[in-house]
Amino acid sequence: MTSRKHRLSSGTVVTIFATCLFLWGFQPQAWADGATAAKPLELRNIMQDLGRNMQAITGAISQENWALVAQLAPKVAAHPEPPVTEKMRILAYLGTDAAKFRGFDEKTHEAAHAMEQVAERGDGRAVIQSFARVQESCLGCHQGFRKSLVEHFYGTR
Ligand code: HEC
Repeated sequence: MTSRKHRLSSGTVVTIFATCLFLWGFQPQAWADGATAAKPLELRNIMQDLGRNMQAITGAISQENWALVAQLAPKVAAHPEPPVTEKMRILAYLGTDAAKFRGFDEKTHEAAHAMEQVAERGDGRAVIQSFARVQESCLGCHQGFRKSLVEHFYGTR
C-alpha cells in the first residue's frame, strides 16, 4: 500500500517534472516568437487612424456639429494607402479576392464622401444614414478579410 502510494506520487512528480520541462522549453520559444513577430503592416496604422476619425465623427454627430463632420469626413474618404511594396504583398495574398477587397474600400470612400456632402448642407438625418453606410463598409471588409489576413501576415493572434 505504502509502495503503491509511493509509486503514484513519484508518477505525479514525473508529470510535474515533464510539465516544467515543457513549460521551460515552451516559454523561451514563445518569447523568441514575440521577438521575431511580424512587424505591423502600415495598413494597421491606417486602420487605427480610420477608427479614431470615425470616433471623432460619432462625437461630432452627438453634438450635431455638422461642420465638424464635414471637416472630418474627408479623412475617412481619402485615407492614405499602404506603401507600394506592402500593397503588392496584400494583393498577392488576396489573389482573386482582390476585387472584392477593393470594392469594400471603394464603398468606404464613396459613403464618406456622401457624408461630407450632406454634412455641408447640415442635413443631420442624411449624415447619420451615410455614417451607417460607412460603418457597413468597414464591417463588410472586416468580416470578409480581417481574420484571415491577420493570420496570414502575423500568424495566429
Ligand atoms: C478593404 C478592407 C477594409 C476596410 C474597408 C476597412 N478595414 Fe479596417 N481593417 C482591415 C484589415 C485587413 C485589418 C487588419 C489589419 C492588421 O491587423 O494589420 C483592419 C483592422 C482595423 C482596425 C484594428 C487595427 C488594430 O490595431 O488591430 C480598426 C480599428 C479598423 N480596421 C477600423 C476600420 C474602420 C473604422 C473602417 C471604416 C471607416 C475600416 N477599418 C475599413 C480591412 C479593412
